[in-house]
Amino acid sequence: MFVEDEWNVIEDGFDASRHVIAESVFSIGNGHMGQRANFEEAYSGETMQGNYIGGVFFPDKTRVGWWKNGYPDYFAKVINAPAWIGLHTSVNGNLLDLASVKIHSFRRTLNMKEGTLSKTCVVELPDGTLLRIESMRFVSMAAVEIGTISYAITAENKDCSLSVLSFIEAHVLNQDSNYDECFWESISQKNEQGISVSVDQTKQNPFGVPQFTVATAICNEISVSATKKQYHKQLQLGETLDFKLKKGETAVITKYAAQVSTMNYSAQELPKIAVERVKEAEKTGFKKLYADHKKVWAAKWKLSDIVIKGDVKAQQGIRFNIFHLNQTYTGDDSRLNIGPKGFTGEKYGGVTYWDTEAFCFPFYLSTSPESVSRNLLLYRYKQLPQAIKNAGKLGFTGGAALYPMVTMTGDECHNEWEITFEEIHRNGAIAHAIYDYVTYTGDRAYLVDYGLEVLIGISRFWAQRVILSPIKRKYMILGVTGPNEYENNVSNNWYTNYFASWCLRYTMETISWIKRVANEKYVELAAKISFEEREILRWSDIVNNMYLPTDEKYGIILQNDGYLDKEPITVADLPADQRPINQHWSWDRILRSPFIKQADVVQGLYFFENELNEETIQRNFEFYEARCVHESSLSPCIHSVVASKIGDEAKAYELYLRTARLDLDDYNKEAKEGLHITSMSGSWLAIVKGFAGMRVAQNDISFNPYIPSGWKSYSFSITYRNATLTVKVSKSKVELCVSNGYIPNLQVYGQTYLLKKDEHITIQTKKK
Ligand code: BGC
Repeated sequence: MFVEDEWNVIEDGFDASRHVIAESVFSIGNGHMGQRANFEEAYSGETMQGNYIGGVFFPDKTRVGWWKNGYPDYFAKVINAPAWIGLHTSVNGNLLDLASVKIHSFRRTLNMKEGTLSKTCVVELPDGTLLRIESMRFVSMAAVEIGTISYAITAENKDCSLSVLSFIEAHVLNQDSNYDECFWESISQKNEQGISVSVDQTKQNPFGVPQFTVATAICNEISVSATKKQYHKQLQLGETLDFKLKKGETAVITKYAAQVSTMNYSAQELPKIAVERVKEAEKTGFKKLYADHKKVWAAKWKLSDIVIKGDVKAQQGIRFNIFHLNQTYTGDDSRLNIGPKGFTGEKYGGVTYWDTEAFCFPFYLSTSPESVSRNLLLYRYKQLPQAIKNAGKLGFTGGAALYPMVTMTGDECHNEWEITFEEIHRNGAIAHAIYDYVTYTGDRAYLVDYGLEVLIGISRFWAQRVILSPIKRKYMILGVTGPNEYENNVSNNWYTNYFASWCLRYTMETISWIKRVANEKYVELAAKISFEEREILRWSDIVNNMYLPTDEKYGIILQNDGYLDKEPITVADLPADQRPINQHWSWDRILRSPFIKQADVVQGLYFFENELNEETIQRNFEFYEARCVHESSLSPCIHSVVASKIGDEAKAYELYLRTARLDLDDYNKEAKEGLHITSMSGSWLAIVKGFAGMRVAQNDISFNPYIPSGWKSYSFSITYRNATLTVKVSKSKVELCVSNGYIPNLQVYGQTYLLKKDEHITIQTKKK
């Protein structure tokens, strides 16, 4: 569908049947707000309007007839906010509706290098007037409350009178609202001195969640002389610009918008601040705003780009993923996080899942300043009291913490018992991100100040959630759902049991270390959370006696009790027309089948490879890959990293492709709902941890690179402990270069090197 290009995603020619997909793909954002690529023009065809402001959500009702104790009261949704992009043109009284005018040419471009969305089209109105429209817009990475559009209209074939309505649309809906319920109420709408300001507030709720207020301000500049008139009708507010164009003449309208919210200011001061911001933006001007925005993007690309030579599709795919990750989360506000769809759609409500820690965290850790991944950790640290409250709702006591499956502010928002109550493995990923951060950055002070408190809360949960089986005399975890959501309420999911045990071990190690280096801090924390040494005795007993199911006949780790009682068939036995099974089979049939939705045991092989031998990894990978249908976008990337580890290059590449162009090629036929932002980090993982084999241990960083056969070379940079390391892998050589700082202990293919600033080493590429 899209033109192959290294830096751009291009749609050449308009296809109304794919417009909603394009609206997702061409989304733009700046970590604080973001929007789908809705047209500025009127469009009566199918569309999903979306403009989202980070952290601004509505707590929607979840009460259902089959209510269970412990279910959350509400589901947080980052809601579609008042839209600022509208520019509706009428020619001689005829409205230009892109769904009904004749389109002579159309080209839409997402410039990933500069973070802009442009459109060029020539359209014919019913009276034969031909207009050329060239628009370009961005939401500023430098001034994060500002969005701007440069909108040029040319009279192609005759003189004409135009009227352009530039407006804010405050009557906005969500597609997933019940009975078209609107989540906003209008507080005020004012036009003053060419600036329109709409103040809107989320509706009251019975859950005690504070209401959010958003102020949107717009103003317009126009390059030709025009008559400006205020416009205010229902909840549309703005101005009309009436002007005449001679054949061949162009008018350029520059629209500036500011969106500010009670995330950052008091409700009273919002309208004033919105006006100030939009005035500042107008004064700065489009050119300078654009230059500042490009500068931020250039810095982001410098740290995070992956260059692939010899495969344009692969290059476009990976840049598309990196682009969206960078515009979804910028890491300067620890109240924000990464929703599975980012700012590109409504599904999953824009809220936080385990996806952040289990999949996205390593990307930000290696490609941004340390403060970015630290803020992701702080998000969970600040939500520890709610995690303790969540666990309390399920009957746990004494500071045990269960982080939510789905959340905005720390409160659990998911209400399917088999997930909310049972997919408790999420606690493990949250602890593991702390380990990842400390190992990678060497910032052990984080453990003292914040990390240990979270680890103790999580460990206390595991210590209460296990039971000692009176028959096997082993600790077991019953009634869980592993990452494989195609089997629920199982006992002894190996991944969950292993993770529980790992969390306890890591917490105990951290405690002994803190006691040695900062005992007074430890004593202070122990007093704050009433932590007693005897808890550790129980933890050791659990670690020493945890039940980790295996099967001797197949020589494998057992995904969970009873897994091998299922029909002994593999994905190879599944007819192609039955896939994906979640669209063809009843839920009951899926649950009874041996098919695995996503990496489960393999997710554990990925996290704990250091503790398992190569043969175990290989045998289990082969067994479970044959049974995994990869019906979560989070799955192929993890299997790809493990396939690289065991040297199965063909498999690693096949699975990499399923992640890298998932949305561009719309493999799962669901890109219209929004993009798979959290799995986008999977393509990065598959290259950096998979093909390049990057691993980080306590005091060293190592690589074990190979190159996919169709590529000429690939290269990427990472920031590692104040150093920037660039790695380039081609068929014949691996080149590594440090441009800042130095790396004392770098290993490539098992050989140790010391890399000083600006030093460069070249090694022959190994064939596997
Ligand atoms: C996956 C979960 C994931 C969620 C959000 C589900 O389909 O099974 O593991 O957290 O999507 O991405």
